Amino acid sequence: APDITSICKDASAGIRNKDQAVRTLKCCPPSLGKPIKDFVFPTDKKVRMRWPAQAGTKEQVDKYRAAIQAMRDLPEDHPHSFVNQAKIHCAYCNGGYTQVDSGFPDIDIQIHNSWLFFPFHRWYLYFYERILGKLIKDPDFALPFWKWDEPAGMPIPEMFVPETIDGKPNSLYDVYRNADHIKDRIVDLDYDGKDKDIPDKQQVLCNLSTVYRDLVRNGGDTLSFFGGVYVAGDDPVGNGDPSVGSVEAGSHTAVHRWVGDSKQPNGEDMGNFYSAGYDPAFYIHHTNVDRMWKLWKDLRLPGHVDPTEKDWLDASYVFYDENEDLVRVYNRDSVSLDKLKYNYIENSKEVFPWRKSRP
Ligand code: C2O
Repeated sequence: APDITSICKDASAGIRNKDQAVRTLKCCPPSLGKPIKDFVFPTDKKVRMRWPAQAGTKEQVDKYRAAIQAMRDLPEDHPHSFVNQAKIHCAYCNGGYTQVDSGFPDIDIQIHNSWLFFPFHRWYLYFYERILGKLIKDPDFALPFWKWDEPAGMPIPEMFVPETIDGKPNSLYDVYRNADHIKDRIVDLDYDGKDKDIPDKQQVLCNLSTVYRDLVRNGGDTLSFFGGVYVAGDDPVGNGDPSVGSVEAGSHTAVHRWVGDSKQPNGEDMGNFYSAGYDPAFYIHHTNVDRMWKLWKDLRLPGHVDPTEKDWLDASYVFYDENEDLVRVYNRDSVSLDKLKYNYIENSKEVFPWRKSRP
């Protein structure tokens, strides 16, 4: 894990047009001079049930909007502020930290393109959800997920689209998005930078095959699904490297590129690691990516098992928790949703609508 408060540098990796970046490259977390605590599992009585964003009740949507607004209203230097939450991604992904703790001060930490991808983002959302709940004093608060693996969930959820709601800014809106895509709404899970311009019906079928490809065909064993081994002393690997996991390389990256504004110098916001966290859509995309990890295991196919290597189990990260304490978390503690006290509401009739969509 990085020593996040003492050694952190400006983001510089993977940002092609640094001089024109629309967001700051100073991504280090605020230092409150606190010691790092060990993580303890939550003792919540209820399980937080994450809900499909396209099917939220008015109450759920209002609450979610209010929570994000509360986060935006915090002073910027607060560890829970909207900007500081966004910067977490930038620091861990664009070279904010080095592997100094493991004896490699000249090598950056990169939590993408390898088997750190799923656990890091699970922890990131875990704390994000609890922080939002605390801000609106709702101990059961649960995040929505952008359910792009079923036809009804493929359009970008309506609540993210309008710029204002009843004359006030919509806290879920982000100005740096591809306006054409947002207008057409149906995501392309295989987007590679070019629009396919195919009828919606066909796009839906394509998307189902992409999910099948990422969870079944290309994700048949632990490392193909999670991504390759990445341990202390390894240089960060790049996008397009064969060791990137099936979902990360596939639907995950496609959605980032599809939402981001290709007219911005670095595809901001969603199209670059350093800026992705500034779009509220990032977090509902990643809840669904996190859910793919769960569904992949629920398929119960041979080979669909979590990594057991010590290097994976012992890898760790540091986050500010909902009490503004610095907490160290390990991959080993990320595997059980029961212990983390959250889960996903599933469609009781059809959990795998893409199951027969073999490409
Ligand atoms: Cu950390 Cu979707 O990227």
